[in-house]
Amino acid sequence: MSGTVAPKLSKDFIWGFATASFQIEGSTDVDGRGKSIWDDFSKQPGKTMDGRDGDVATDSYRLWKEDIALLAQYGVKSYRFSVSWSRVIPLGGRNDPVNPKGIQFYSNLIDALLENGIVPFVTLYHWDLPQALHDRYGGWLNKDEIVQDYVRYAKVCFESFGDRVKHWLTMNEPWCISILGYGRGVFAPGRSSDRERSPEGNSSTEPWIVGHSVILAHAYAVKLYREEFKASQGGQIGITLNGDWAMPYDDSPQNVEAAQHALDVAIGWFADPIYLGHYPDYMKQMLRERLPEFTPEELAVVKGSSDFYGMNTYTTNLCRAGGDDEFQGFVEYTFIRPDGTQLGTQAHCAWLQDYPQGFRDLLNYLWKRYKLPIYVTENGFAVKDENSKPIEEALQDNDRVNYFKGTTSALKAAVLEDGVDVRAYFPWSFVDNFEWQACLLYHHRIFGVTYVDYETQKRYPKESAKFLVKWFGNNIDAAEKPS
Ligand code: NOJ
Repeated sequence: MSGTVAPKLSKDFIWGFATASFQIEGSTDVDGRGKSIWDDFSKQPGKTMDGRDGDVATDSYRLWKEDIALLAQYGVKSYRFSVSWSRVIPLGGRNDPVNPKGIQFYSNLIDALLENGIVPFVTLYHWDLPQALHDRYGGWLNKDEIVQDYVRYAKVCFESFGDRVKHWLTMNEPWCISILGYGRGVFAPGRSSDRERSPEGNSSTEPWIVGHSVILAHAYAVKLYREEFKASQGGQIGITLNGDWAMPYDDSPQNVEAAQHALDVAIGWFADPIYLGHYPDYMKQMLRERLPEFTPEELAVVKGSSDFYGMNTYTTNLCRAGGDDEFQGFVEYTFIRPDGTQLGTQAHCAWLQDYPQGFRDLLNYLWKRYKLPIYVTENGFAVKDENSKPIEEALQDNDRVNYFKGTTSALKAAVLEDGVDVRAYFPWSFVDNFEWQACLLYHHRIFGVTYVDYETQKRYPKESAKFLVKWFGNNIDAAEKPS
């Protein structure tokens, strides 16, 4: 038989699973950790479905060795996790003391990952702002303070872990930090005062101020890394943005334009300044003086401040002009096509349907527009009613398997057929975990490829984990490249 070998992803392609500190660690009051804004927020009545919080989560602060053993068993090349700012600097600020036990915890984790041949991908900020900084000066609302405090926190991490960590993500999903935390008020710190002032909405100021602070904190941390650490440590640093593909509802010019507006607000708000050096025109037009401006010096730091494009994506929205929600750029989202059919399989979360072509289209869009290698730092699916299923059924997560079948083939097609430079893929999430407030319900078993029995904290691989392990085993080139 003549051997045409099916093309594979390059041997350097990175894959692994992702998590975040507050979602998995638990042990919120041990070893000197300070409170984060999620600690009390998640305990407020009505914020989570049955008052669940992150006090125990998947107990990974205690069970990290078991977690690494499982990652090694899965054979991942990498693991994306986040550092908890308030474990490292309990009060958060630039003059506040560093907590040696917090440093030790992440240092041990990193060492053990490396001993197992697993490359650490480290997120510095996955939403768990030290509560003290929020109380002291309003956290992300106070640009001048927070930028300095964040940069000092980043510096402590580069100094403590940068000899071993070569992949840094400054921030996770600034859109969620800004809109969900300070606009819709559904994430910590739960602010929506702008909306309350003007119930018809659309006079908000806080989310745009917060977004601006996040961009600057990211950019100044990158500047510091490049000036003081990159030469000796040799790592890469960038930001990770959320953003789903926006597809026009139909061919009408206003809906084609609406889809672009959706991308401008969901992605361009952060990506355009960071990669292109300016806010999108549509955002300027929509917000006028409510959109903060960068000084020329700031802009020089912001533009080009990411070595790659970090992409978190879950779904595709059909976009129609209209609606009254400026947080969505006055665009209405639907999953129902003009002919009445659904776009894809419905997840447990109202905002998520499975549509792999959208994943491929988004990769192409980002590659053409921002022209940098893409790391897919999150992608995943919440199976309907998985939470209430007995374990035997929950382990058979067929809708999640189908989702990953779709996105992995779309990924391969984007790389091998469309020529998009994608270098990493991290399914969300390694384990079932504390899922913030998503789906408007607390749902504690929602995105994991590993089932967690919350009574015993025992982990059980779901079918989706097995599928992904096998898929990457078969689709990454093991051969040495000819020299
Ligand atoms: C994105 C967030 O980064 C992660 O924390 C969350 O659990 C997933 N989306 C799923 O909602």
